[in-house]
Amino acid sequence: MVWGMIPLVGAIEGLKMSKSYREALNMVVRACRGDLDGCAVILVCGSKNVGKSTFIRTLINTLLNHTGSVDYLEGDLGQTEFTPAGCLCLANVTEPLLGPPFTHQTPPEHMIHFGHTSCETDLERYLESLKTLWRRRSPGRETTVVINTMGWVKGFGFQLLVDMIRFFPVSHVVQLSHSGVTQCPSMTPEFLRTAHGHQTHPPAVTALDEFTESHSPPKSYTHVIVQSEFKGAGRQGTAKHQRTNELRELSLLAYLSQLQSPDPGPIRPLHTLTPYQVPQSAVALGVIHCEVVPSHMFYAANASLVALCCLGEKVSSKGGPVLLSQAPICPCVGFGVLRGIDLARGLYFLLTPVDPSILRNVNCFLLGAISLPSCILTTQPGFDGEMPYITKDYSFDLTGAGKLRVFKGLTRPSQMGN
Ligand SMILES: *[C@@H]1O[C@H](CO)[C@@H](O)[C@H](O)[C@H]1NC(C)=O
Ligand SMILES: *[C@@H]1O[C@H](CO)[C@@H](O)[C@H](O)[C@H]1NC(C)=O
Ligand SMILES: *[C@@H]1O[C@H](CO)[C@@H](O)[C@H](O)[C@H]1NC(C)=O
Repeated sequence: MVWGMIPLVGAIEGLKMSKSYREALNMVVRACRGDLDGCAVILVCGSKNVGKSTFIRTLINTLLNHTGSVDYLEGDLGQTEFTPAGCLCLANVTEPLLGPPFTHQTPPEHMIHFGHTSCETDLERYLESLKTLWRRRSPGRETTVVINTMGWVKGFGFQLLVDMIRFFPVSHVVQLSHSGVTQCPSMTPEFLRTAHGHQTHPPAVTALDEFTESHSPPKSYTHVIVQSEFKGAGRQGTAKHQRTNELRELSLLAYLSQLQSPDPGPIRPLHTLTPYQVPQSAVALGVIHCEVVPSHMFYAANASLVALCCLGEKVSSKGGPVLLSQAPICPCVGFGVLRGIDLARGLYFLLTPVDPSILRNVNCFLLGAISLPSCILTTQPGFDGEMPYITKDYSFDLTGAGKLRVFKGLTRPSQMGN
């Protein structure tokens, strides 16, 4: 795979902006440059594959032409911009975004790990996590905010959008659609007056009074519809590296590539990297979106991606491992791979690019449904004998085998040997 600068050949179209796209962009940028006391809050929504991420990148880049920084609230779990998938964040963007997410994985100011690429599994947790992130913004901060949302605009997904427009002091709602129709009702202020959200119901104006005090938001907001007119709008891209699951893997690989030496050279496989030793009594272990009996917790966590989090209270232990029965919503500072677990000495072996000064505050590992790209486990050159973490002797007829595959990166026989 070769990435870099390539000239655009005649047959390839660059970014295709429709008339409504350009108008919406100009209008929002003008509003942000104008007054609004520098606190325009722009929520962008639309179903999958309508060009929402591209619109947001173009918007942020254009805004950065006029201001030093733009705040970004991540609400799209499946196509996260700055972090591996499944992670919600609040980021201070100061550099233009010139490529897909895997080209600019950067630690945001605040992160909360949701642990799943879709929010259906826990709508409350999704909304509460976003509210928590918003509360962490320093009060009185006068920066334009761009809010990204899930590409889920039907049913519960639609209700979540209604809630978000009510919770946050939104000044603009940009609704992307394709084929000349909106895929859900128009989110106009009039419509919102009677719409039912998941957590909010009319006649509620806003459910989060605490947010309105410092912001005194506009009573209404500007609603803009953008028609995407690029080829294939509304359909998933089929070209190489366009599929969302591939982009997700690339983002995670980009994040974990920080474990590699900055000098050019062959890629160092997982087993050659030196891990941190973490006492099991000092760091709690929790699983989100799935119930795992305590006796199976280590099987699930072994060779898995974990979010490195900071619980509010101290972790206390009588010497043994601390297993959480419920995983709280708590700040996350980064990700790591639990490379091994030493039961006899009570240690986790953790690989992570997070700086040791930040790592000191971590007292919880959260395991979600985001698995390591299987190539990390299947491509481990320099290993004699049986490769660790990989097995062929496995029956997928066993109850729970599907989940184990997800959690442990076990490979289906058909994937072996390539
Ligand atoms: C930023 O400003 C420059 C100079 O005015 C202009 O050429 C460029 O197109 C602008 N970029 C964006 C993304 O608006
Ligand atoms: C965002 O980051 C830039 C560069 O680090 C910094 O100058 C600016 O103050 C930050 N903005 C806010 C609102 O914290
Ligand atoms: C973790 O996985 C390795 C490699 O497959 C295995 O040798 C080890 O026994 C496992 N540890 C636990 C605690 O399950």
